[in-house]
Amino acid sequence: QAALPKGYSIRPLANDDYERGFLDVLSVLTVIGDISKAQFLERFHYLKAHNHEYFTLVIVSPEDRIVGSGTIFVERKFIRNTGLVGHIEDIAVDKNQQGKKLGLRIIEALKYIGAQTGCYKVILDCSKQNIPFYEKCGFTHKEYEMAWYC
Ligand code: ACO
Repeated sequence: QAALPKGYSIRPLANDDYERGFLDVLSVLTVIGDISKAQFLERFHYLKAHNHEYFTLVIVSPEDRIVGSGTIFVERKFIRNTGLVGHIEDIAVDKNQQGKKLGLRIIEALKYIGAQTGCYKVILDCSKQNIPFYEKCGFTHKEYEMAWYC
């Protein structure tokens, strides 16, 4: 298990993380849009009401800023004897904080949640350049992603 650097902590997303720069961290992934506090709270409360399915974790720096984030979504299937599959989504570490094993720590925590929740596997999609990172996190290559944009 990777330890967090001194002064850093990992915890579930909180309703005042909007002010701690949560959305700025997500901007390393893609376009975020101009999300208001009300929009953030609406989504936050939805996730909280479904906290048996959605787990979003954040890493907080010693300066009380969000510097990393990640989500696991637990899908309920019929196959595999009504099995559960964990989907890891939106892993993001602030550009200035990359390379400190924060990403690895987020993945370890999400894998733990997936296993504790009863998932028989945890899967994710990533770019080719991120394959070495996920291999270091214990994942192996399977299948190919397909996408259709609405
Ligand atoms: N290529 C090769 N090795 C890598 C890479 C890479 N792109 N990224 C990390 N690693 C290695 C590190 O060197 C380290 O190896 P070591 O243990 O031998 O020292 C190990 O992986 C762990 O690295 P961390 O320090 O934990 O990585 P970091 O905190 O920088 O987080 C992340 C990695 C999440 C990919 C970060 O760089 C990031 O936010 N990138 C931009 C957004 C992104 O691409 N997110 C993933 C999208 S896919 C998804 O969300 C499912």
